[in-house]
Amino acid sequence: MKTPPKAPVLCLDGPSGSGKGAVGQRCALRLGWHYLDSGAIYRALAYRLRQAGVDPVDERAALAIAGTLEVECLPRPDDSAAVLVQGVDVGAALRSEDVGDTASRLAADAAVRDAVLAAQRRARRPPGLVADGRDMGTTVFPDATLKIFLTASLQVRVQRRYKQLKLKGFSVNLPDLFRTIQERDARDARRRASPLVAAEDAVTLDTSDLEIDEVASRILDLLQPRLVRTRAHGTGIANASADTDSRDSGKS
Ligand code: DC
Repeated sequence: MKTPPKAPVLCLDGPSGSGKGAVGQRCALRLGWHYLDSGAIYRALAYRLRQAGVDPVDERAALAIAGTLEVECLPRPDDSAAVLVQGVDVGAALRSEDVGDTASRLAADAAVRDAVLAAQRRARRPPGLVADGRDMGTTVFPDATLKIFLTASLQVRVQRRYKQLKLKGFSVNLPDLFRTIQERDARDARRRASPLVAAEDAVTLDTSDLEIDEVASRILDLLQPRLVRTRAHGTGIANASADTDSRDSGKS
């Protein structure tokens, strides 16, 4: 019997504040696809460990929780995705910079990353998945239909994160935020396990001067022909390296 084609996947990777979450939710809503905020998995782990009063970089405790973690992300039009951890929406509590920082430390541990891999891959269900994070295109879904690497200047990324945190009612100090984002990105990019890096076949988009909807539209324009082609070939997977769109890589 023929194995059914895998559901198509759109991967959005990039550093903090590059727009992955907002753009990912808009794309998922427009496509009617599932949405995975993979950062929320690491944040949920950090949050559960902090709640349990465990030293958050305790690998054994992290692995015990990671194996049981059930995370579901529901995109919203205002980009404030609901994040259900074991069925309970803890989305807002996950957004603090403290939780983000602990998440980044946990995410540097290869065993922890392995433990959450299956949960991430389970999110790939018909009619398709929009997945955002740091290693969606390089490690989790290497056969994705389209891989996008979003960037923006540090200045713009810090300002975006500042606005998001203020909107959510967190008190924020701009110089502190600047430093933590810079440190977090450096840690995410330097780590040995699945570092933050663009996949070879990713299309890089600088979002510094673009609105969310504009970025989403550009991405969906790139995605559509690949979906048509992959459907015609009876598979959910496009070979992006053999794809004419990959000419755009890094030039957008
Ligand atoms: O995207 P975010 O800020 O919610 O992610 C929180 C941390 O989780 C981030 O600093 C690095 C880590 N992360 C990761 O290592 N791999 C992913 N795919 C997603 C997030």
